[in-house]
Amino acid sequence: MRNPQLNKNGELQHLLSLDGLPLSILGAILDIAAPFTEVAEREVKKLPLLRGKSVFNLFFENSTRTRTTFEIAAKRLSADVINLNVSTSSTKKGETLLDTIDNLCAMQADMFVVRHESSGAPYLIADHLHATGRNHIHVINAGDGRHAHPTQGLLDMYTIRHFKKEFHNLIVVVVGDVLHSRVARSQLAALTTLGVPEVRVVGPRTLLPTDVERLGVRVCHDMNEGLRDADVVMMLRLQNERMNGALLPSPQEYFKVWGLTPEKLALAKPNAIVMHPGPMNRGVEIDSTVADGGQAVILPQVTFGIAVRMAVMSMLAGN
Ligand code: CP
Repeated sequence: MRNPQLNKNGELQHLLSLDGLPLSILGAILDIAAPFTEVAEREVKKLPLLRGKSVFNLFFENSTRTRTTFEIAAKRLSADVINLNVSTSSTKKGETLLDTIDNLCAMQADMFVVRHESSGAPYLIADHLHATGRNHIHVINAGDGRHAHPTQGLLDMYTIRHFKKEFHNLIVVVVGDVLHSRVARSQLAALTTLGVPEVRVVGPRTLLPTDVERLGVRVCHDMNEGLRDADVVMMLRLQNERMNGALLPSPQEYFKVWGLTPEKLALAKPNAIVMHPGPMNRGVEIDSTVADGGQAVILPQVTFGIAVRMAVMSMLAGN
């Protein structure tokens, strides 16, 4: 079966998911991102790798970090960036997603960065481009429903490698609402591909997928067990917008049991890092003392996101 992410030479054609992405490509993106951090941090001004290319940001769902860092990344690579304002676009008059895509292709788009509330929307676009012979145009999934958020997963792996150097000796813990989280799915796929020996998922039964063990992770329904001796603690937001019905008693009850406080973090290794993809709900999944404390690497994650997104776009453009 055709892998929609790869071209016939096995090179990256679209970035849709980390599930099934070969280690060689995942590792190459992390390696390519490393020198881009100098550009991301403004030590080097701009690179011409996407000069003359048009990158369209299509965000059908809210975003602060992903949309902005994609824009910064594309501009640092000298691309022309067009942010479609979906709330004032013809989508609101009933235009279909694929009609919108066809019209933007007619404006000489080279790359689409797509966030959509429906799982699979970026795949639909990639299939449409393939079926209509427009294989020079690339699609990057910037988060689709509860399915995948591959660049978030990649920047999380970059952050872990930056602070921990290796993957093969780590205990990595993912805490919270795994069930509704596209970020968690991308993190778990990447951690498995990179050979992390112990990945734990921690949370209430109502917020963990029933078959999550099949992903090769250890399931813990107890924070003390889950956090013990961890090297990396990755917190997740409660995805209230994707919950059907009451899966939790209240945010306060959730925080009492599953919220990361300094006392709970003390169970992890003393040099453990704390990550969060954002947006954070302080006092729900994480205590402010931890979020703003010395072990948190939440803001470096955002900065690394620029370099990682530069690496993805640069690789797609054939550099
Ligand atoms: N982590 C993340 O996707 O954040 P945004 O929703 O702000 O893009």
